[in-house]
Amino acid sequence: MSETILVTGGCGFIGSCFILQQMQQHPDIHLINLDVLTYAGNPDNVKEVAGDPRYTFVQADVADRPAVEAVFAQHHPTLVVHFAAESHVDRSIDGPDVFVRTNVLGTQVMLDVARRQWKEDACMDTARFLYISTDEVYGDLPIESTEKFTESSPIKPSSPYSVAKAAGDLMTQAYHRTYGMPTLITRSSNNYGPRQYPEKLIPLTIKKALAGERIPVYGDGLNVRDWLYVEDNCHAIDAVLRKGAPGTIYNVGGGNELSNIDLIHLLLHALAQQTGEPEEDYTKLITFVPDRPGHDRRYALDSTALSHATGWSAIRSMSPLMNTLDWYIL
Ligand SMILES: NC(=O)c1ccc[n+]([C@@H]2O[C@H](COP(=O)([O-])OP(=O)(O)OC[C@H]3O[C@@H](n4cnc5c(N)ncnc54)[C@H](O)[C@@H]3O)[C@@H](O)[C@H]2O)c1
Repeated sequence: MSETILVTGGCGFIGSCFILQQMQQHPDIHLINLDVLTYAGNPDNVKEVAGDPRYTFVQADVADRPAVEAVFAQHHPTLVVHFAAESHVDRSIDGPDVFVRTNVLGTQVMLDVARRQWKEDACMDTARFLYISTDEVYGDLPIESTEKFTESSPIKPSSPYSVAKAAGDLMTQAYHRTYGMPTLITRSSNNYGPRQYPEKLIPLTIKKALAGERIPVYGDGLNVRDWLYVEDNCHAIDAVLRKGAPGTIYNVGGGNELSNIDLIHLLLHALAQQTGEPEEDYTKLITFVPDRPGHDRRYALDSTALSHATGWSAIRSMSPLMNTLDWYIL
């Protein structure tokens, strides 16, 4: 049976990967991509499906209620995957306002319009609203600990970005509890892969190294992130959307904890192998800069609940790092 799925933020890094995967895996799908195209949204990220009759692009803001209502009234999506967000921590420190507008108000508008339309269409039992949250809502862990966050760990976000994401996450939970809406939440760790805007650590490091420019590293470089290949995350999102229990939160961790400085060395080593340049030419560009205010030390996720519920695991681990590198070089 054909299904109509609304994806927000589908021209960004993870949303575009999800769209390409969905269009391949679900032949009967009608997919609507609602994206306002901020600096981080790139239509080329989904150019492979742009001419597909099963695909519709709508340029609109998730916080623009009439625009969102028009999409629901015209297409009646019964699956929603809400990626759209301002996503860069540094930008949230420089200017938090737009983070509150998009990540909090935008999420509430999406939830509310979906709820009203699904009530009218009498499809609340079969519909699903999946909010893409982040491990950053938990705050951080000490570097020396081996603890991991579970879905029942307290919410204690640190930056304006993670606070705004946590507010959207809690609003999603409120719509389930208060209105009985069939919502789901995934909280994933740091993703890596192709099509990421080059302000984030991996593409930024590659870009700077290739240009012979200094590679900035915050503080002592020992902050630890749990890296997840973007395609693994999109498989998890698909599994949660189709097999997850409404009202449930699922952690999605890569199980690859690396300090920022170790990751940069790994990348530069691989880059030297690819380009044939001496590794030292790249590593000498590493420049420690004053730490990001409030910089989280370590994230680590326990994804047991997701594996038990859906059979998912992070099968690709760090092996696609070389392919990722090629994508940015070429
Ligand atoms: N990248 C990661 O490692 C990571 C990890 C955990 C969670 N997340 C979450 O996953 C989601 C996607 O992250 P990403 O890295 O792909 O982000 P991204 O910044 O690459 O893309 C965001 C997309 O949302 C669109 N957008 C922004 N504001 C909008 C608005 N007001 N209306 C409509 N569209 C808007 C942008 O144009 C862009 O296409 C976000 O919700 C983010 O919080 C990301």
